[in-house]
Amino acid sequence: MNYIGSDSVRLSEDGRSVIIIDQTLLPGKTEYRALSSAEDIFEAIKKLRVRGAPAIGICAGYGMYVLSTQIKSASFDEFFGDLSKTGEYLCSSRPTAVNLSAAVKRMLEAAEKNKDLPISKIQDVLKETAERIHTEDIEMCLAISEYGLSLVKDGDGILTHCNAGPLATSRYGTGLGTLFLGKERGYDFHVYVDETRPLLQGARLTAYELDKAGIDVTLICDNMASAAMKNGYIQAVFVGCDRVAANGDTANKIGTSGAAVLAKHYGIPFYVFCPSTTIDLSCKSGADIPIELRDGEEIRTMFFSEPVAPEVKCWNPSFDVTESGLISAIITEKGICRPPYEKSLAGHR
Ligand code: MRU
Repeated sequence: MNYIGSDSVRLSEDGRSVIIIDQTLLPGKTEYRALSSAEDIFEAIKKLRVRGAPAIGICAGYGMYVLSTQIKSASFDEFFGDLSKTGEYLCSSRPTAVNLSAAVKRMLEAAEKNKDLPISKIQDVLKETAERIHTEDIEMCLAISEYGLSLVKDGDGILTHCNAGPLATSRYGTGLGTLFLGKERGYDFHVYVDETRPLLQGARLTAYELDKAGIDVTLICDNMASAAMKNGYIQAVFVGCDRVAANGDTANKIGTSGAAVLAKHYGIPFYVFCPSTTIDLSCKSGADIPIELRDGEEIRTMFFSEPVAPEVKCWNPSFDVTESGLISAIITEKGICRPPYEKSLAGHR
């Protein structure tokens, strides 16, 4: 099932560009963009035209393939040197989601492993590798969604923050996958969506995806989550994730940790959903996860017809770290990890 009509990221028919849905225009306009240069891909990731940790990884995979076909070098060493530089450049577009650097690394490893083949054959291998990153993500999202269904029951109210649905991944999504799968199986969830200031991924994207699928959705401002919980509307919180540290700390969209603190206060389970590729055991704790700082002007101006605040300083971290002690479980395609995460996550990576 494809809830947004087509994959949010795919390779063009002729293999010369990466096609993305421009997520900055949703829900008003559904427009596709063809990205065929490193600068196009960098800009699309940086500006969140393509966003969501797994989707960025898929875009980077296809991007590396497309850009590899433009390299003119005759020798493997030259080819690999150029491809490595391209990978480094793409990785510098956004630092927090490990899926971006993991996809680039996987593409480079695939090239190196096949260094004795002619360049054209290495490019074929890169195409297959990028396609595998994509199809694996589809499979992982479905498996994650199945595990998620075992954590909730028909009629539950679910709070979600940011967007971890089909646009951010492929097909079902991670944090939202259970809700789509549940809908197919006749569950009636009531989903409360944090608008997710400042870039409104919840309001613009999650509300759009859920509504399109016929799921009962109620949009709230981020600061209404506490009241919704207190009123008994919420039985579980579902979020996605950009990176999981070895101790179970998780980085996700700014505001996620606040929702987790509230959930703990009200005794509501807080679940983090992600593919196992989002687990980064090289980060011991959340303190090792690089947090993207974005232009403060986004808070004053983005998605408003005129600035909503005077020209004061703005602090605009794009992500925050939810401490593992606030997380009831981390769900990957391999199963449900419970604390202590040092132990349970090791089996998922
Ligand atoms: O800045 P964004 O929109 O890329 O942030 C995305 C999130 O925080 C998502 O929750 C996360 O990437 C998981 S997507 C399945």
